[in-house]
Amino acid sequence: MSPTEPPQAVPFHIAIVGGGIAGLITAIGILRYNIPITIYEAAAHFGEIGAGVSIGPNAGRALELISPDVARAFDICRTDNQWESHRRNFFTCRVGDARKADKDGFVKPGVKVGDALFTTPFKVEGKSGGVHRAHFLDELVKQVPDGVAKFGKRLDKYSEAEDGSGDVVLHFHDGTTAQHTAVIACDGIKSRSREILLGKDDPAASAVFSGKYCYRGLIPMEEATALLGEEVAANSNMFFGYHGHMLTFPIEKGKTMNVVAFASKEQWEDSKWVVSTTKEEMVADFDGWGSHVHKILKAIQKPDIWALFYHPRCHTFYKGRICLLGDAAHATTPHHGAGAGMCIEDALIMSCLANEAKSVQDLEKAFTAFDEVRRPRSQKNVIESKQAGMLYDFELEGDDLDKVEKNFTTRMDWIWGFDIVAQVEEAKKLFHEVKAKI
Ligand SMILES: Cc1cc2nc3c(=O)[nH]c(=O)nc-3n(C[C@H](O)[C@H](O)[C@H](O)COP(=O)(O)OP(=O)(O)OC[C@H]3O[C@@H](n4cnc5c(N)ncnc54)[C@H](O)[C@@H]3O)c2cc1C
Ligand SMILES: *[C@@H]1O[C@H](CO)[C@@H](O)[C@H](O)[C@H]1NC(C)=O
Repeated sequence: MSPTEPPQAVPFHIAIVGGGIAGLITAIGILRYNIPITIYEAAAHFGEIGAGVSIGPNAGRALELISPDVARAFDICRTDNQWESHRRNFFTCRVGDARKADKDGFVKPGVKVGDALFTTPFKVEGKSGGVHRAHFLDELVKQVPDGVAKFGKRLDKYSEAEDGSGDVVLHFHDGTTAQHTAVIACDGIKSRSREILLGKDDPAASAVFSGKYCYRGLIPMEEATALLGEEVAANSNMFFGYHGHMLTFPIEKGKTMNVVAFASKEQWEDSKWVVSTTKEEMVADFDGWGSHVHKILKAIQKPDIWALFYHPRCHTFYKGRICLLGDAAHATTPHHGAGAGMCIEDALIMSCLANEAKSVQDLEKAFTAFDEVRRPRSQKNVIESKQAGMLYDFELEGDDLDKVEKNFTTRMDWIWGFDIVAQVEEAKKLFHEVKAKI
């Protein structure tokens, strides 16, 4: 249906729990088909932490299919590598750890610590780039009509409506309730909905620590250029090392360099996942690394540590009329830079399925089809992303740089080269098959 046609009188009203990237883009996608929805967000307003997130070409293509407006929001916020020769590269890879070098500073013939080793080209069409999360969210919020989102609504539990409709009643922390035909739960990595849906005893109900944590920081581009030279500062780089790696990429149209430095530990004891630290402690964590990495670390003003958690594989994304989407369904480590992209793909599939649904019963069939097409791909990313973190940290192929290159230059193909149009068709086909069966 084209969005200019008059509203269809669908006999349902969907709740979206959580207004992050996943909830907002799903909302925009569904609203485009004139299907009524309400967003319930725990916070007092939409908001995001100010950090960079990179979006791959698969997600860029999905955004264009969701709506020209979300694609425009991405364009407004999106920052590519600044040099034309680097435009279509995920990363330029380098060794950052000086312990890999021989006595003359070489990590392999002709290549020193900090020098370019190889690049990982995207290979496929589709817009990509880094966005400042808060800015992207702001642009998305502009596309959500007034009144659609309710704030200060922290979901505590669900119950079935007593009127025999089979509707879901959402119970919020403030004591209020709301009744909806179905719920799309986008409540993020600490999802309450996931816990309820899978049951607290399911080991997949909550996220587990990945063995990696990271320091995140932003550096003004002028300062980064002075420290590293323009080619390194203005384009994305990854620095490999032993049990750690660092990545940098430009955000905010090249005004800022985003830095993420990863390190390893066995357990995460703190109940908080983001903790502040001192520059001294951060620098000490990269003892033995080369001058590029040290210069970058020293330029970060107020470093935070982020513990990296992910969701173990669960057996379903939905139960009855509640369906998990985005990080609530498949929170991942960030090593593929594909977590938000999977949320965007989810949003496209869910909105197309919602548009197929014409009755209340159809919504459950839509969730069945969503689960069937989205679960394998998104869970594969969770597993392989964790493996990628090990690759960059010389824990998968060791410090054999040829093997690391071979692995890295092909491991992203199935993510970036994905045919999302075919998956939309597959999901619709499944939906109609399930519909025919019942
Ligand atoms: C360090 C790090 C780096 C990353 N880097 C990348 C990257 O480079 N590329 C990439 O693609 N992805 C990256 N990601 C992943 C990406 O950020 C996430 O996949 C994405 O932001 C998840 O969006 P979401 O909307 O599902 O969840 P969230 O953004 O967590 O949003 C959840 C929303 O639900 C609300 N909420 C929570 N509980 C409730 C409740 N009970 N009731 C009501 N509302 C609730 C929250 O307030 C929030 O607004 C990274 C993640 C991390 C941690
Ligand atoms: C990367 O290496 C791991 C471990 O050796 C292997 O399982 C995986 O298939 C490799 N991936 C690619 C794309 O080479």
